[in-house]
Order: sequence, then structure tokens, then C-alpha cells
Amino acid sequence: MTKQQAVLDILPDHVDGSRDFMIFGHFLEHFHRQIYGGVYDPGSHLADENGFRRDVIEALRKIRTPVIRWPGGCFVSAYPWKKGVGRRVPYYDKAWRVEEPNTFGTDEFVKLCREVGAEPFICTNAGTGGPEDMSDWVEYCNLDIGEWAARRRANGHGEPFNVRYWSIGNENYGAWEMGAKTADEWARLVLESAKMMKRADHSIELAIASIPDLEWNAKALREAGDLLDWVSIHGYWSRASDEGIFEKGYDNIIARAFEPEERIVSVKHILGSLGYLGELRIAFDEWNLRGWCHPNFMSFGPVDHALMDCNDINSNYNMADAVFTACFLNSCLRHCDVVGMANFSPAVNTVGAIFTHKDGVVLRPTYHVFDLFTNHSFEEVVHSALRTPSFEVETIDGESRSVPHLDAVVTRDPASGDLGITLVNLHGNANITCRIRGLDAGGSGNATMRTVNGASVDAFNDVDQPDAVAIEERSLAIENRADFTIDCPAHSVTVLNLE
Ligand code: AHR
Repeated sequence: MTKQQAVLDILPDHVDGSRDFMIFGHFLEHFHRQIYGGVYDPGSHLADENGFRRDVIEALRKIRTPVIRWPGGCFVSAYPWKKGVGRRVPYYDKAWRVEEPNTFGTDEFVKLCREVGAEPFICTNAGTGGPEDMSDWVEYCNLDIGEWAARRRANGHGEPFNVRYWSIGNENYGAWEMGAKTADEWARLVLESAKMMKRADHSIELAIASIPDLEWNAKALREAGDLLDWVSIHGYWSRASDEGIFEKGYDNIIARAFEPEERIVSVKHILGSLGYLGELRIAFDEWNLRGWCHPNFMSFGPVDHALMDCNDINSNYNMADAVFTACFLNSCLRHCDVVGMANFSPAVNTVGAIFTHKDGVVLRPTYHVFDLFTNHSFEEVVHSALRTPSFEVETIDGESRSVPHLDAVVTRDPASGDLGITLVNLHGNANITCRIRGLDAGGSGNATMRTVNGASVDAFNDVDQPDAVAIEERSLAIENRADFTIDCPAHSVTVLNLE
């Protein structure tokens, strides 16, 4: 194969925008082992005095998790939050059709977020719940007067939690959701809920469940747009089969690497057409390459819960996940004018970045991508132009699709001027060099290159091979900062830091 080269021209004096660090957020749902046996496991020898897994908290801190969305997901659409504070009784969870232990509720969630150093983001029940239920929840968390504040105090929390981020509903447009709504019903519910929630605390930021659909958004925004701050959208691009088999082919997965960006652009256009661009931002508050395995979710027959265990097979999550995740985050950076939050779904177990077992955690390849972006990229997105070869792959539908060989975004720390250039080689087996031009008028300098690669596209981490995919770091001396090249191995994610 001929040696491939891409060219990245940087215009250091042109800043496209500033990213909101909240794009590196995560999500937790009461599903399978995300909460119980995941982040919360009072019986574990690794739990702290609150029942939280110390190793999970440490891992979430290391990637500077800025925000955690909770409690669902489909789970929230029948979640009786009032039963999850004070005296607790287990109950039947109609979303996943299991018994909910109910020992992890609002108080525990807020405490967890404080331990991690993340903002709590509460998604309310807009399925079976209504405006009063939602505004009572705001009162419980944020007020110091009234019945709900008194209940919080009685539960041992004298000071308000001051939860700033709230959303109305989860995927309420979808037939799968309990208490699904038509666009007209939705618009009315959003208006009345937003009104009451903001009367309880006008400083909260409010999102609504959304989708790239003009009618769905038009109705809600015409009714309530001025009370809102965010539209929430979701995306999963690879579904496990009902038998619990996860998609394997690297090429047909990577063919979808820029579909999240198309979704962002659609919603951006919808916001623009409704006069809300610049007013409302996108919270991509559930996203992952992999959809969760929950077979028979839509049926009314028996659920084979054992099949959900296939979410725990670490070999399902490999370099396709890492490369896709990096492209997703690059897309958020490119659209930082409108994407202000994103929540990887989920944080722990299922298809998440951190897997727990009884004696520790496994950090999946996606975790290391978060580590690269949160610890080594910067706030300003600097203007750049990339010329890259592309390659043809076959999609899952048997069509041919052209995929860019390289994806790149340039970021800068406004305080120090340091640069973080994210370079993603999407090709499964061909390296590429990237010629980088435009920095300084010349001169030498030092750079640090950190790469997540793995021995092959199928590389994964597991209990017995925790570091098969890890960050490899090396220092480089660059002779001419105005024009130099970097080698990007096949299926890799690199962040190059220049002082
Ligand atoms: O598969 C995960 C589920 O997917 C979440 O509960 C829901 O929000 C989404 O549809």
C-alpha cells in the first residue's frame, strides 16, 4: 500500500469557539449492573463508607467527569422519585421488569456526584409523572422552604443540593417509552412543567427530550422555548442482536463514525429554523457506538434477563469503539457553538467505559480516549483545514461508503497557548502521516504524543489483560514547528501536545 499523507493547515489566530467541558460527561441508569454492583456496592470490599466503589470514583475523577445524568433512560419514565428518598421499599421496575432495590436515590446520587466532582444532571419522569412531581423534585433539591425542603432536611441534608441541570423526560417521542406523548401533548406538558420547575428555582437550566424532527421541536419550542436552555438528543449506532451478539466488523462500524455529526447538524438546523440557535444548546445526553443489549424490551412476553449479561463481555469493546468515540468527541468540538453537553452512555458497566468486577475495574479502550481528551486537549477550538485521503468501506447494508482516513481538531489553552491536536486514524490497517503546517514562523520545540492504539482493531482490555489497550506516551523534538509530520498508526487516536 502506498504511504498515505494528510495535510493539516492551522490558522493559529482564528479561534472557532470554546468547548464546554460538559461534552465529556457521563450517564448512569438503573439498569443491570450500572448502579447496583457497579458504582454502588455497599457489600464490596472496595466500597467506601457510602457504599460507593472507591475504584470507580477514582477512575471517574481521573477523566475529570464534569457531569453525570441520572436516573434514566427508559427507567425514569415510571420512576417514583418520592419513594427513593427517606424510607425505602423495593418495587417493581416496569422498564426493565426487575425488582428495583431502591437503596440508591436522589440523596445518594448527589453524594456520588460530589465525590466524583461532577455536576448532577437529573432527568425527570415525564412518562407517568407530571409538572408537580417534577417541580417537587426541584424543591426537594434546591429550596430551603416548604414541605420538600423540610423532607430533605429530615433526611439529613440541611443545605440545598443546588442541582443546576434538569431535563424534562427521556425519549418521550418513542413508542417504547412508558407514557409516550404526541408532539401536541408533549408541547403542553413541557410548558406546564418548565413553568412550575422554574417557579421553584428560576436559576436551573432545563433540557427537554428531543429528536432531529422539525414537528416535535416546533411544537414544544413555540410553546415553551423561552423557558428552556437545552434540547436533549440520543444516539447509538450499533445494536446487539436479540441473542446478545455484538457487531464485529471494524469497517462497517467505522463507516458510521460521522453519523453523530450529521445528527448534530440536523438539530442545529432545526434550532436555527425555529429561531433558537444561540439560545438553546444541544445536550447529546445519551450516546455510545454500542446500543445496550436488552432483548425483548418491546415485547410483552417473558424477558430473558440472563441475556443482559452479554453487555459485560469485555471483548465486545475494542478499537472500533475507541476510534468512534474519538470521532464523536471531535464532532462535538467542531460544533462547540451548539453542543454544550454530552453524556457517554453509560459511565459504568453495560457498554460503558469502566467495567467492575469483584476485585477491581477494567478500563475499556473508550476510557483511555476520554483520558486523552479531558486531560490533554484544551478549551479553544482553533481553526484548521484538513486534507485527507479517504478509503472505501462496505456498510452493514452492503453499500459502499467513503470514509476519511484521518480526522483532526486543534485545541488551545487560552492561558498558556499550549496546543492539543487530536488526530484519529480511522483506517483498520493503514498508517498515515499528517503534515502539520501553520504554527509559528519556524523554530524548534518539544512535543508530547499520546496514542491509544492496540495491537489490532480487535484489541480489548479484560481482567486478565487490563492494559492491552492503553495510552502510549512519547516525547518528540520538532525541528521546524511551521512544517512537520506526525505518524499516526492504523486504528489509533492521538493527542499531540505542543508547548
Ligand atoms: O438502551 C438504553 C436505553 O436506550 C435507555 O434507557 C434509553 O434512554 C435509550 O432508548
